[in-house]
Amino acid sequence: MGWVGLVTATCFAEMGHPVIAMDIDAQKIRSLSRGRAPIHEPGIEKLLERDAERLTFTTEMEDVLESARLLFCCVDTPPTYSGDADLSRVQAVVSQLPSDGEYALVMKSTVPSGTGRAIRRDAPDIAYVSCPEFLKEGTAVQDFLHPDRVVIGADAGADWAADEVEALYRPLGGEMVRTDVASAEMIKLAANAFLATKISFINEIANVCEEVGADVTEVARGMGLDRRIGPSFLRAGVGYGGSCFPKDVSALKQLAGNTGYHFQLLTAVIEVNELQKRRIIGKLQKHLGPLAGKTIALLGLAFKPDTDDMREASSLVLAARLQGEGAKVRGYDPVAGEAAAKLLPTVELTGSAEEALDGADAAVLVTEWSEFAELEWSSLRDRMAKRVVVDGRNFLDAAALREAGFAYEGIGLANGGRNGEAAATEPAEARLS
Ligand SMILES: NC(=O)c1ccc[n+]([C@@H]2O[C@H](COP(=O)([O-])OP(=O)(O)OC[C@H]3O[C@@H](n4cnc5c(N)ncnc54)[C@H](O)[C@@H]3O)[C@@H](O)[C@H]2O)c1
Repeated sequence: MGWVGLVTATCFAEMGHPVIAMDIDAQKIRSLSRGRAPIHEPGIEKLLERDAERLTFTTEMEDVLESARLLFCCVDTPPTYSGDADLSRVQAVVSQLPSDGEYALVMKSTVPSGTGRAIRRDAPDIAYVSCPEFLKEGTAVQDFLHPDRVVIGADAGADWAADEVEALYRPLGGEMVRTDVASAEMIKLAANAFLATKISFINEIANVCEEVGADVTEVARGMGLDRRIGPSFLRAGVGYGGSCFPKDVSALKQLAGNTGYHFQLLTAVIEVNELQKRRIIGKLQKHLGPLAGKTIALLGLAFKPDTDDMREASSLVLAARLQGEGAKVRGYDPVAGEAAAKLLPTVELTGSAEEALDGADAAVLVTEWSEFAELEWSSLRDRMAKRVVVDGRNFLDAAALREAGFAYEGIGLANGGRNGEAAATEPAEARLS
């Protein structure tokens, strides 16, 4: 009953199916039984209420096995120290399944290619279907109910289960991709690795733009209009985070490595992403000098807007780096406060953006929550000790900030962007000539 499990359960219930939902976390199950979602995900609470009569929550696998035949496995598969996916929770689920040939295990967790084959080897009586999930946190319900495609992988003997899964998803539309298990598993990892590659690519383009006096938002627009490239995932910023991209890119790299193949491109994608977060420090130092003793406000802590998920959030790396430089760090997030308090115990968390900015030497926009677009910078200028804003998502109105007297730094906007003024730094060309 995490993001994938809860969305899957509530959406199937919304489609009219009775669903029995199980988790080992008794607190989550208690909260769900009362109709309260343990995560922040738009639309979920409405479905919990509307479809309550078709949803049953339990902590007991026995209850599940009594009433269901299609078992959707949505447990977490976090990275291990080696970068491989940790499959212990998947194994815990498989170990509880009876071997009487009645059940189908539908794998929605992201697992390395080869996992399905290994499960079938150990538990040959289970009909195994790989049905990877492509939802995005923040728009998960919509993504589930309106999929671009549904990937269903099954090997010989599991066709009945694959047919049932296809029948479940068919009313949602979207292309059906029926394939073998190993290919279905690979589609998920390859899709995430490709999206992460696009992000690291545009971030490197942004860094070059800063050197040559180009504007990455213009470059991305011009590139994205090419249908072969497409506009999505071409927004330069502080890099990707979250519970999926970092671990899935690393899992694919390790999966390749385990076979003796060195996936060079993904090694670069990961390294670019790590360095991108650290470039913010340089941008702050450009305006403030050494950061020791300075107060920096981080706006947005969750790994993306409209979620309270803090897993692998860029704010975690930024806060640690800033504190490493001796800065005092404040942070504000519209919904991720509780999760942030656990992961950022040495960061002063505030109840509003304004409070975080009070007396701060600089603001760094880390996550582009829509409420940050409404900030009144002209009235905030006198509350801050210094007027420096580093916009890690090219989200704020650069012209309005400059008009209010702020030094504004985006990502890859050497000329300040279309609505900006002259660059704070000269383009490399000018410096060279
Ligand atoms: N979050 C996303 O956006 C997303 C998108 C696509 C795919 N995925 C993949 O889906 C999987 C789940 O991701 P998530 O973000 O929903 O994870 P999550 O950590 O939010 O939820 C996992 C849930 O599984 C429960 N669990 C652990 N062991 C269990 C067991 N033995 N029996 C029953 N429940 C158990 C946990 O208590 C937790 O509630 C991962 O493999 C992830 O990579 C996630």
